[in-house]
Amino acid sequence: MAAGYQSGFGNEFASEAIPGALPVGRNSPQKVAYGLYAEQISGTAFTAPRRENRRSWLYRIRPAAMHGAFAPYAQPRFHNDFDAGPVTPDQLRWSPLPLPQAPVDFVDGLYTMAGNGGPAAQTGVGVHLYAANRDMQGRYFYDADGELLLVPQLGRLRIATELGVLEVEPQEIAVIPRGIRFRVELPDGPSRGYVAENFGALLRLPDLGPIGSNGLANPRDFLTPHAAYEDLEGGFELIAKFQGHLWRAPIGHSPLDVVGWHGNYAPYKYDLRRFNTIGSISYDHPDPSIFTVLTSPSDTPGTANMDFVIFPPRILAMQDTFRPPWFHRNVASEFMGLIHGVYDAKAEGFAPGGASLHNCMTGHGPDAATFEKASNADLSRPDIITDTMAFMFETRAVIRPAQQALEAPHRQRDYQQCWAGLKKHFAPPRG
Ligand SMILES: [Fe+2]
Repeated sequence: MAAGYQSGFGNEFASEAIPGALPVGRNSPQKVAYGLYAEQISGTAFTAPRRENRRSWLYRIRPAAMHGAFAPYAQPRFHNDFDAGPVTPDQLRWSPLPLPQAPVDFVDGLYTMAGNGGPAAQTGVGVHLYAANRDMQGRYFYDADGELLLVPQLGRLRIATELGVLEVEPQEIAVIPRGIRFRVELPDGPSRGYVAENFGALLRLPDLGPIGSNGLANPRDFLTPHAAYEDLEGGFELIAKFQGHLWRAPIGHSPLDVVGWHGNYAPYKYDLRRFNTIGSISYDHPDPSIFTVLTSPSDTPGTANMDFVIFPPRILAMQDTFRPPWFHRNVASEFMGLIHGVYDAKAEGFAPGGASLHNCMTGHGPDAATFEKASNADLSRPDIITDTMAFMFETRAVIRPAQQALEAPHRQRDYQQCWAGLKKHFAPPRG
């Protein structure tokens, strides 16, 4: 397998594992070198505007059409059946998803937490976790319903895809485009993380406006793999996620058999520690949109289908300011996770691997202990926040928790108590 990556976001990449595998001057010559088949994968409509158009040409040992018939595959914990009933406006929080005891691979370890929209409408997002402890063996997966944003929290992932291999560790992310086939190996054994399944427009870098031409996540830090192929035959399995459910088909060879490819529809990884964090250097805490890594736009300008936002290490020097994230309510809905360390708006209860959900107009903010501490902090010195990496999937539509998440033993049913200790400080002038 080839090592190293190609740098850039949404670039027109080209890579070949065998020199000469890529045709020159045309995408689909009458005969491809080395007896390869030419095949296009389109991630946007053929006629999408050029700057949004994503497709790649794959030169492979066998076409993707070659596999047996699909039959339903039972993995009832992973789905898009977001609760159809009434949605509670309560603040919700969960402890980390327990790691499995029995052998479980990535596909069987996926666990749906919440979501909105769905693959039929091609809008919204599925919010999942995974907890697994063994490699996918002899089987391959693709998601036809959305692109997958993988956020490892515990253990590295080695993701062998049709277009090459991504190796990611906690505090890095990987994005696997809709339809791309892959297999996940777990070099560290027991592993856990978060997954956003984006049914809407492809994730992209946010515009920077007055920030200028640099800052936040810089395009050169996004890494796409070089071509790497498997020439394997055997009794394998192809698992597809299609319209909210899993399907399984027999396949007699590895579908990771792409010897060369070119195009701009490809998996990528990004190290969140490279984020150029920008904030206030005078007063007040900016809106968290300043921490947007990637965004999936909706049809309404400035109103994302989903934003992927992080709360990385940073220096807070604002004066006459309550420095942690403030109390607020939001028309958007916020699913948060913690990858590493401690989140600065909560003293306890929000553990790495845990999650919280604050839906549309549900009040939330720092807990009582954090409020008292930050209200009385010495502002003459900056707060240098290290050892932290929290994130948020923020969506325009309400995030509906899955029934299994509401009923889970690891849901913290006393979460609201973290605000119960907020004292009444009101002291009107006497007279
Ligand atoms: Fe919030």
